[in-house]
Amino acid sequence: MKHLLKLGDLSRSEIFELLDLAAQLKEEKKNGIEHHHLKGQTLGMIFQKSSTRTRVSFEVGMYDLGGIALFLSSRDLQIGRGEPVQDTARVLSRYLDGIMIRTFEQQEVEDLAKYGSIPVINGLTDYCHPCQVLADLLTIKEYKDTFDGRKLCFIGDGNNMANSLIVGGIKTGMSVSIACPGDYQPDADIMAWAKENGTFVCTENILEAAADADVIYTDVWASMGQEGEAADRRKAFAGYQVNNEVMSVAKSDCMVQHCLPAHRGEEITDEVFEAHANEIFDEAENRLHAQKAVLVKLMKKA
Ligand code: CP
Ligand code: NVA
Repeated sequence: MKHLLKLGDLSRSEIFELLDLAAQLKEEKKNGIEHHHLKGQTLGMIFQKSSTRTRVSFEVGMYDLGGIALFLSSRDLQIGRGEPVQDTARVLSRYLDGIMIRTFEQQEVEDLAKYGSIPVINGLTDYCHPCQVLADLLTIKEYKDTFDGRKLCFIGDGNNMANSLIVGGIKTGMSVSIACPGDYQPDADIMAWAKENGTFVCTENILEAAADADVIYTDVWASMGQEGEAADRRKAFAGYQVNNEVMSVAKSDCMVQHCLPAHRGEEITDEVFEAHANEIFDEAENRLHAQKAVLVKLMKKA
């Protein structure tokens, strides 16, 4: 594993190794055991979009691991004024030990890895959000113990979260169902891969998708960069809300996950959100532990 550009690049056993390491680092942190695996190393974090969880968890994660993190806003970097990613990659590789990037185009992340000479971590693109899904898998494992035979249902827009959840869900042995409007389906190649490699359904019928689910997951209707489409999207997604009716067809011990930020009253009711707040905030906490595992795997010197 040289980079974390998308979950599709990881094998099933690499995902399980990361989850085991994350659980170990979490336990050590809880017990006050220092683990300075990245002593003296520096992670650069390029943000072309806003962030609360990703920024803070990477920054705290690097501190926990004995290194430091630099927050690099595209508003201030020359990349924001058109300096090519090829040049940015080669320059930053001379200063840093690793780069985390949150941006729009997946290609930009792939190019950073191609032209740079240090590990690159995808902190969200329009296409996928692998760090989030590693944290989600860690949380599901904590609550459900095993993945095999579990049903993971995602309700909402078929973009970054859905794409990564399909890959992470199928690779860990869960069945995956997606409920979304026909015009907002996940990536066609990812869906074709999922059908070949596991049990996968994409439907407009939200109750069919949620039936007997062990995990129901949702995300905002208008993602970062789509603010101008918010009104249209509110109409298109009106029937795709996680509410008590949806929860009533899932398993009685079904957990709810949300990558956050949440828009209560849109993709999820306040009632369902608050009833499952512990699971959702454990998930948010697990961003820290899962990403520390990624940082150690990619950056720890032999
Ligand atoms: N879930 C997530 O990536 O949150 P932020 O946008 O706050 O980083
Ligand atoms: N789909 C959302 C996820 C935020 C973590 C977005 O891209 O804005």
